[in-house]
Amino acid sequence: MHSFDIAPPSDKTALYADLLSALDGLTADEPDAIANMANVAAVLWEYLPDINWAGFYRLIDGELVLGPFQGKAACIRIAMGAGVCGTAAATRQTQLVDDVEAFPGHIPCDAVSASELVVPIIVDGALIGVLDIDSPSTARFDSADAAGCEALVARIGSRIAENP
Ligand code: SME
Repeated sequence: MHSFDIAPPSDKTALYADLLSALDGLTADEPDAIANMANVAAVLWEYLPDINWAGFYRLIDGELVLGPFQGKAACIRIAMGAGVCGTAAATRQTQLVDDVEAFPGHIPCDAVSASELVVPIIVDGALIGVLDIDSPSTARFDSADAAGCEALVARIGSRIAENP
């Protein structure tokens, strides 16, 4: 069992600093990428409020394939450039979507999702996948969430790369 001392969500800077520290420690000595992705998804799910999905899509043979996650069963394969995830992957830019209905080509996996944050994961210059978090609330995510998740994948990206 793991227990973490994580700051409350009211202080996002402290929250993400604590999540980074906890997940850095949790993944540091484990070489298995799937195990690490599973634990990252579980910890984000436990400590980020107001979300309905958190997990990974991995870049495999040119498309995004569902990886470890928490939430409802989701679409399995997403083409590069398709939806929010494929856009983040194709552009290598974080996608901060206040209203998924307004995002052209958004792929609805869970009807309750209203806003979404997708962060590309780049290791040694190579895209390996994306971190995707959905919320049932419109405009749930802001630049602090984006920065926190970008810092997280920068730190642990090499530990969730399946073919480093
Ligand atoms: N909404 C995403 C698909 C993945 S699910 O949200 C888990 C998209 O548009 O790419």
